Amino acid sequence: MMFILSLFFVLIFCSLSRENPNHILVIAPPFFGHMLPSLELAKQLSSYCHVTYLISANKINELDRKGFLSDLNNSKTLDIVGLIDGNDNFPQFEIHDSQINLNNISQIIPGNDHIRLFNSVINRMGTALNHLFHSNFQSPITRNISFPIDMIIVRSFAPLPSLNLSIPIHLFLPSNLRGVVNGMHNDERNNNNELKEVFHYIQNNTQQANGFICNSLKEFDGKYIEQFYRSSGNLAPIRFIGPLIFNSQQSMEDNAKDIINWLDKQPISSVIYISFGSVARLPSTTIDIVARALLNHSFIWSLKTKTSLPSSLNNLDPDRQLILEWTPQRAILSHPSIAFFFSHGGWNSLLESMLNGKPILVWPFFGDQFDNALQIIEMGIARQVSNNLQDDIEHMLSNNSYSNKAKEVQQLVIQARENTSKEQIINIAQLISNNPNEHDEL
Ligand SMILES: *[C@@H]1O[C@H](CO)[C@@H](O)[C@H](O)[C@H]1NC(C)=O
Ligand SMILES: *[C@@H]1O[C@H](CO)[C@@H](O)[C@H](O)[C@H]1NC(C)=O
Ligand SMILES: *[C@@H]1O[C@H](CO)[C@@H](O)[C@H](O)[C@H]1NC(C)=O
Ligand SMILES: *[C@@H]1O[C@H](CO)[C@@H](O)[C@H](O)[C@H]1NC(C)=O
Ligand SMILES: *[C@@H]1O[C@H](CO)[C@@H](O)[C@H](O)[C@H]1NC(C)=O
Ligand SMILES: *[C@@H]1O[C@H](CO)[C@@H](O)[C@H](O)[C@H]1NC(C)=O
Ligand SMILES: *[C@@H]1O[C@H](CO)[C@@H](O)[C@H](O)[C@H]1NC(C)=O
Ligand SMILES: *[C@@H]1O[C@H](CO)[C@@H](O)[C@H](O)[C@H]1NC(C)=O
Repeated sequence: MMFILSLFFVLIFCSLSRENPNHILVIAPPFFGHMLPSLELAKQLSSYCHVTYLISANKINELDRKGFLSDLNNSKTLDIVGLIDGNDNFPQFEIHDSQINLNNISQIIPGNDHIRLFNSVINRMGTALNHLFHSNFQSPITRNISFPIDMIIVRSFAPLPSLNLSIPIHLFLPSNLRGVVNGMHNDERNNNNELKEVFHYIQNNTQQANGFICNSLKEFDGKYIEQFYRSSGNLAPIRFIGPLIFNSQQSMEDNAKDIINWLDKQPISSVIYISFGSVARLPSTTIDIVARALLNHSFIWSLKTKTSLPSSLNNLDPDRQLILEWTPQRAILSHPSIAFFFSHGGWNSLLESMLNGKPILVWPFFGDQFDNALQIIEMGIARQVSNNLQDDIEHMLSNNSYSNKAKEVQQLVIQARENTSKEQIINIAQLISNNPNEHDEL
C-alpha cells in the first residue's frame, strides 16, 4: 500500500515538473505568525510547481537570520522575493496592564492600538502591491518575478483590488475555520471603524475567492464548513492542508543541545514549558503572576522582556527552572520530560503541541487566540486559565485525561500530515496544471 502511494506521488510529481512549470504566487503579510505557515506552504507546493514567495523585503533577512531559509538556497522551484513596502520596523504588539483584569485573568480588554498598527502595515503592503501589478514603472521588489502567474495565494485581509483579479485567488486561512466563522459574525456586530476597514476587505475577498486553503484538519473543523459557506456566501472548495510545521535549521545548533541535555536529566512528564508567543509583550505584573504560580515546579520559560524580571524570579533553581530568551520549541515539545505546554493559544504553537501529543494550559490574549482556545478545550486536550493559576497547574499535572486525549489527537495530526494534507497540496498544484489561467471552480 505504501509502495502504491509513493508511486502515486512520484507519478504526480513527474507529470507536474514539466519544462515550463506553472507558477503560484504566495503573498505573506509581515507578521511572524503568518509568514512562517505561508513559507511552509510555499515550500511544500514548490515540490510540485514553481512558486514565488513575496514578503516585505526586510523580513527576508529576519527569516534567513533565524534559519528558515537555509534549506532553500539550491531550490530551482521556489523564489523568495522582497516587496519594498516600507514595513521595515514596526513596533511589537504590547499588552498593557490596563488591558488585563487581574481579578479575572481570562478577560482581556482589546486595544485599538493593535488594530491601528495592523491597518497601517496592511495599507503599506497594498500600496506596493498596487504598484507591482498596475504600473509600468520599476516595480518595488528586490528581484523580478517571472510572469505569468497562474494562481495567487494570499491572506483574506489583503487588499485584493491591488492584485490582478484575472488570476485565480485562493485565500490562505492559517488558523482554524471556527475562528474564521466567529470572526465573520463578530465583524457584523462591531462598531469600531478601524476594525470595519479590515472586515470589509475580509468580507469582500471571501466572496470573490476561488478557493480556501486552511491550515487545520477536516477532522477538527468539518462541523464549521456549512456555517462558513452560509456566512461567506461562497461555496468554493476548502482544502485542509494542516498541520504546516516549520523548522529552523538553527534549532539543533546554539543552545539547543544544552537544553535537550538539561531535559534529559528531568523525570518524565515533570517539566512545564511556557511560551506566550513571539508577538505580544506582557506587562511585568502578568509575568509576576505566572512566576508565583510556577515557583514550586520545574519549567522552561521562553521569555523576552523589555525591563528586568520581577523579583519573584530572583531565586530560580537552575537544575529545575530555566528562563531563556530563545527556545527550540519543537525540540522541547517533543521531549518526554515535558508535562504540558502553557501557551497563549497561537495556532502554530497549538499545532506543534498536538503533533507532539502534549496537553495545553491556554491563556488567550487577543485575536483568534480565543477561538483557538475554545477549539482545543472542546477537543479535550486543554484547560483555560482560571483566576487561580496554582490550581490550574496542579490540575494539569495530576489529571491525565488531557494527555490521554492529546495522544489520540497526535495520531490524527500525524496521519493528516503524511497522507490527507499532502494529497491536498498536490491537488492545489494540479489545479493550475490542468487549467492554467482558468477559474477552477467556475
Ligand atoms: C545555504 O545557506 C546556508 C546559510 O544560509 C549555508 O550555510 C550553506 O552553505 C548554503 N548551502 C549551499 C549549498 O549553498
Ligand atoms: C471572567 O471573564 C469571562 C470572560 O469575560 C467571563 O465569562 C467570566 O464569567 C468571568 N469570571 C469571573 C469570575 O468574573
Ligand atoms: C527587472 O527587469 C527589468 C526589465 O527587464 C530591469 O530593468 C530591472 O532592473 C529588473 N529588476 C530587478 C530588481 O532585477
Ligand atoms: C469589493 O471588490 C470589488 C472588486 O475589486 C470592488 O469593486 C468593490 O469596491 C469592493 N467593495 C468593498 C466594500 O471593498
Ligand atoms: C493579469 O493577468 C492576466 C492573466 O494572467 C494577464 O493576461 C494580464 O496581462 C495581467 N494584467 C496585469 C496588469 O498584470
Ligand atoms: C510551594 O511549596 C511550599 C512548601 O511546600 C508551600 O508552602 C507554598 O505554598 C508553595 N507555593 C506554591 C505557589 O504552590
Ligand atoms: C480530569 O479532567 C477532566 C476534564 O476536565 C474531568 O472531566 C475529570 O473529572 C477530571 N478528573 C479528575 C480525577 O479530576
Ligand atoms: C498513510 O496512508 C497509508 C495508506 O493508507 C497507510 O498505510 C499509512 O499508515 C498512513 N500513514 C499514517 C501516518 O497514518
